[in-house]
Amino acid sequence: MDLIVRNAKLRGSKKTVDIGVAGEKIAKIAPKIQEKGKKEIDAGGKLVAPTFIDPHVHLDKVLISEVVRENKSGTLTEAIEIIWNKKKKYTIEDIMERAGRVIQWAVSHGTTFLRTHVDVDGIGGLKPLEGLLEVRKAYKDLVDIQIVAFPQEGIIQNAPTEKLMRKAMEMGADVVGGMPYNEMTYDDSKKHIQYAFRLAKEFDANIDMHVDETDDPGARTLQYLAATAIREGYKEGRVTAGHTCALAAYDDSYAAKVINLIKQAEMNMITNPATNLMLQGRRDKQPVRRGITRVKELVDAGVNVCYGQDCLKDTFYPTFGQADMLEVGLITAHAAQFSMPAEIEILFDMPTVNAAKVLRLKDYGIAAGNTASFNVIDAETVQEAFRTQADRLYVIKRGKVVAETKTTVKIYR
Ligand code: FE2
Repeated sequence: MDLIVRNAKLRGSKKTVDIGVAGEKIAKIAPKIQEKGKKEIDAGGKLVAPTFIDPHVHLDKVLISEVVRENKSGTLTEAIEIIWNKKKKYTIEDIMERAGRVIQWAVSHGTTFLRTHVDVDGIGGLKPLEGLLEVRKAYKDLVDIQIVAFPQEGIIQNAPTEKLMRKAMEMGADVVGGMPYNEMTYDDSKKHIQYAFRLAKEFDANIDMHVDETDDPGARTLQYLAATAIREGYKEGRVTAGHTCALAAYDDSYAAKVINLIKQAEMNMITNPATNLMLQGRRDKQPVRRGITRVKELVDAGVNVCYGQDCLKDTFYPTFGQADMLEVGLITAHAAQFSMPAEIEILFDMPTVNAAKVLRLKDYGIAAGNTASFNVIDAETVQEAFRTQADRLYVIKRGKVVAETKTTVKIYR
């Protein structure tokens, strides 16, 4: 064995096991592996879980709050406007430097799979994509990156975007994105969604859209997206919707109808509470709306739900974010009111097994024969992992240790 991690506590088990790794694969899991490994790690009864997945981040925009003017209103609209100027001046080197820093934070926190959206529009053209394709190459030993071609400026109202979206898919984007609410009319929003399905079918690609990122209860594109997925037979998790803030603003009976369609469409839902707690409901007096989607109702309906970091130090979320899924999980817990131990188990599923369904990963998880990508976490339970924001003692990617963290605390009295 190339690596043996001993005394590992797997989720749902009180006893510890040894995990033997040969090359990039998990070769054996047993209460005690007798042979010696070329490298050995003693997990000391701590939690060992598959590496985290961030299914929704914008790596092209991360850290731009360091260099652009302040978002004075704090709204999504102004955040997008500020980006226009920056986007015109993007260089590949600039994108690589900013995204590269964030990827290293992510890896240090045990995240080794990312799905990033990348702006595709008439302003920045395909430069952001070119940058992220280079980033993907440069960091391929640390992280697996899926790229979503994201028409943030709209498709119908931003004429060059339609052609650029096809070109982005030809150049190596994996997933067709969308932002149908950002069109001038509801009719155009529907055309936007129809175009995305045509393009996805042409490339046999999955779809992952920003949907109704607004607290406007009149937003209707989520319902149309779900209905289109059903009609087009794009099911089994091929369609993902992020943000979906308006779902929380609907009255309960319409929300129930839409959730039922989401379930029928077998869609994945991603909430992005770090950003949306800041942006949505920002002009409310009291009570201030939370702005995130109906997480608990979706979970209760049996929908696959995850959370994503979304933004880090960009114009939408200018100050915070460290690419840590335990941190985003803690924010999600508060925003969605997950507090009971069983709910925290669900919370831990979100950046692991649930997100693996979004990315459609084939051999994810701790089982013999799967790729050896897992974390040794400085906690015995998932509840403790979130509560203490536990160190990721060892981050193992494809059989190799790629990061280590151990915080030492001394108290003097
Ligand atoms: Fe987003």
